[in-house]
Amino acid sequence: MEKIVINGGNKLHGTVQISGAKNAAVAIIPGVILSDGICRIDNIPNIRDVNLMATILHQMGAKVNRINKSSLEIDPTYIREPVATCDLVRHMRASSYLMGALLGKFSRAEVALPGGCDFGVRPLDQHLKGFGILGAEHSVSGGVITVEAEKLVGGHVYLDVVSVGATINIMLAAARAEGKTVIENAAKEPHIVDLANFLNSMGAEIRGAGTDVIKINGVKRLSGTVYSIIPDQIEAGTYMVAAAATGGDVIVQNVITKHLESITAKLREMGVQVDEYEDSVRIRRTGTLRRCNVKTQPHPGFPTDMQPQIAALLSIASGTSIVNEAVWDNRFRYVDELKRMGAAISVDGKIAVIEGVEELNGAPVKATDLRAGAAMIIAALSARGTTQIEDIQHIERGYEEVVEKFAALGADIRRVYSNDSVIHSA
Ligand code: EPZ
Repeated sequence: MEKIVINGGNKLHGTVQISGAKNAAVAIIPGVILSDGICRIDNIPNIRDVNLMATILHQMGAKVNRINKSSLEIDPTYIREPVATCDLVRHMRASSYLMGALLGKFSRAEVALPGGCDFGVRPLDQHLKGFGILGAEHSVSGGVITVEAEKLVGGHVYLDVVSVGATINIMLAAARAEGKTVIENAAKEPHIVDLANFLNSMGAEIRGAGTDVIKINGVKRLSGTVYSIIPDQIEAGTYMVAAAATGGDVIVQNVITKHLESITAKLREMGVQVDEYEDSVRIRRTGTLRRCNVKTQPHPGFPTDMQPQIAALLSIASGTSIVNEAVWDNRFRYVDELKRMGAAISVDGKIAVIEGVEELNGAPVKATDLRAGAAMIIAALSARGTTQIEDIQHIERGYEEVVEKFAALGADIRRVYSNDSVIHSA
C-alpha cells in the first residue's frame, strides 16, 4: 500500500501550476456522449476520477484517444447501448452524470448506482425529480437505476435543494429535449458554468449558468467540439492554504481569481497576505494566524470542498474558531486524524470548535476522503516531525502530481510503499 511521508517545517516557496478542474472534467466527459461528432477536451487533469470516467466511456464503446497528458479526444458515436453498469461506475459520485447524458442522447439510461466520498447520505432525489419533469420514469433494481422516457420534453424544475449534481444532470438531459427547460434554485459553481459553455460550444442553447435560474432550449443535434477546461478552484485553494500553513511565499499560477474570492477573503481575515494578478495569486504569511469562523455554502459562499483544508489551518491559528459544515451531514471524519497530530477540535453534528495550538506534531494518519487527505498534507507540512499518510488513493483521485507539486515548492515529501522502500523521493 502506498503512503505519503512528510517531514514538516519547511516554508513553501516558488510557483505551482494549477491543473484543470476535476469537477468540471467529470461532468464534461459524460457530456461528450450527447455529441454526434468527435470532441477534443484540453486542460484535463491527469487524475484517477477523470481517467476512470474516460475508461467507463471506452468500455461503453466510445473511441477514447489520449492525445497528451492533458488532452483527450473522444468519439461517442460508437456507443450503441445506453448502459453503464460496469464495476468502475460504483467508484465515484460523478458516475451519476452518465444518467443525464445517456437519457439526453438515447431517452434511456441504465447506470449502476454511484459511489463517492462518504459524508453521510448522498441522495439522488433532486436528479430524479428533474428527470421526471422532463417526462422520464425511473426504477432501481440490483444496484442499477434505469431512467427512460418515450420522448424528453422540456419543463420547469424548481430544485428543493441547491444541488451541483442535480443541476448538472438536468442540464445534460435537457440539452437535446424538445422545448424549453428552466432550472430554478440551480447551483452556481464554476464547473456548472464550464459545462454549460462546453455544451454551448457543441451547439446547445443554455443561458443563465452561474445564476440560480438556468434556461435551456433543447436542440436536435449537438456537434463535435474542441474545449479547454477551467482551472481547478479547489486545487488552487488547497495550495493557497498550504502556503499560509507553512508561513511561506507561493505564487499559485493558472487560476481564475474570481473563483477564489471566498477563499481569498477568509485567508485575509486570518491575516494572510493574498495578492491577486491576471491569472495567479501570491500567498504570503509572516505573522501569526488569526482565528475566524467559517460556514460552508454553495458557490459563491465558502466551498465545502475547502472545509477540511481551512480547518487544518485554523488548528494552528491563535484563538478559538468555529467551522459550520452546512452542506454535508458528516464531513468531519478527518478531525480524529488531525487530533492524532495534536489538534484541539471538538465536533457536535455540523459544528466543529477549533482551539488553535502553537504547533502540530507529526503522526501516522489516514486520508478518510479526498479533501480530508489534502487537509492531512497541509497539517503535516506545518507540523514538527514526520507524518505518514495512508489511504492516499483518495488524494490521488483529485490532485494531479500532488507529491511532485509540493516537493517543487520545497516540501520534504515523498511516496513510499508500505514496506517503506522509497519508490519515489520527489
Ligand atoms: C458535488 O457533489 C461535488 N462532487 C462535491 O465535491 C461537492 O462537495 C458538492 O458538489 C457540493 O459542492 C462532484 O462535483 C463530483 P450536491 P454532489 O448535489 O453533486 C443534497 C469533491 O471533493 N442533495 O451539490 O453530490 C446533498 O445531500 C467532491 O470534489 C439532496 O438532498 O453534491 C447535500 O446535502 C466531494 N438531493 C447537498 O444537496 C439530491 O438529489 C449538496 O449536494 C442531491 C443533493
